[in-house]
Amino acid sequence: MDHIHPIHEKMLSRSDREKALHQKSMVLWFTGLSGSGKSTIAVALERELFSRGLIAQVLDGDNIRNGINKNLGFSLEDRRENIRRIAEVAKLYVQSGLITICSFISPTKEIRAMAREIIGPEDFNEVFIDTPLEICEQRDVKGLYKKARAGEIKGFTGIDSPFERPEEPQLTILTENQMLEDSVQRVLEFTLEKVRNFHN
Ligand code: ADX
Repeated sequence: MDHIHPIHEKMLSRSDREKALHQKSMVLWFTGLSGSGKSTIAVALERELFSRGLIAQVLDGDNIRNGINKNLGFSLEDRRENIRRIAEVAKLYVQSGLITICSFISPTKEIRAMAREIIGPEDFNEVFIDTPLEICEQRDVKGLYKKARAGEIKGFTGIDSPFERPEEPQLTILTENQMLEDSVQRVLEFTLEKVRNFHN
């Protein structure tokens, strides 16, 4: 019956797209506390890559929790479902040949292990944005730590909900004594190194 082809036989492959885009696709998975600078670094990195002809896409709370995941809250169960869906979406992006930058607290080892499992360990690069709680709380960009301390928000990460530090991240960014540009540069070099290995 050679006149009926399963759909996947007609689809372009990931490597077709990677070749067309002249890049290796991968996931950079940013984990860290609220206010640690994850999304700021992610967005700056996206631009740096773009200016070098590399196509990346940031997934963060703004485009995920306001859209596909707007029915989810912050219980551990909902966070797990949040991350599960994001990991599935990221996996599709990787198939499209994109460098996918996911910027989510992803607070527990188990949650991050699930993301790694879904995406596949070879494409999953854990980047720990390591900013101490005191600094995040001092900055309190969104005023949420103040509310959490006042008991107006329950189950806030780092206050009354856990954040488990990654044990073996591929990259750790210590933002405390470092300018934003330097943090971005570190992740950029890490990413370019992977793209270069792909070309060789
Ligand atoms: S995750 O835990 O499920 O990975 P995610 O990264 O999507 O979290 O969302 C975190 C953002 O949601 C925070 O930066 C903050 O702005 C907001 N937020 C609202 N409530 C909470 C809460 N209880 N804990 C942590 N972040 C919260």
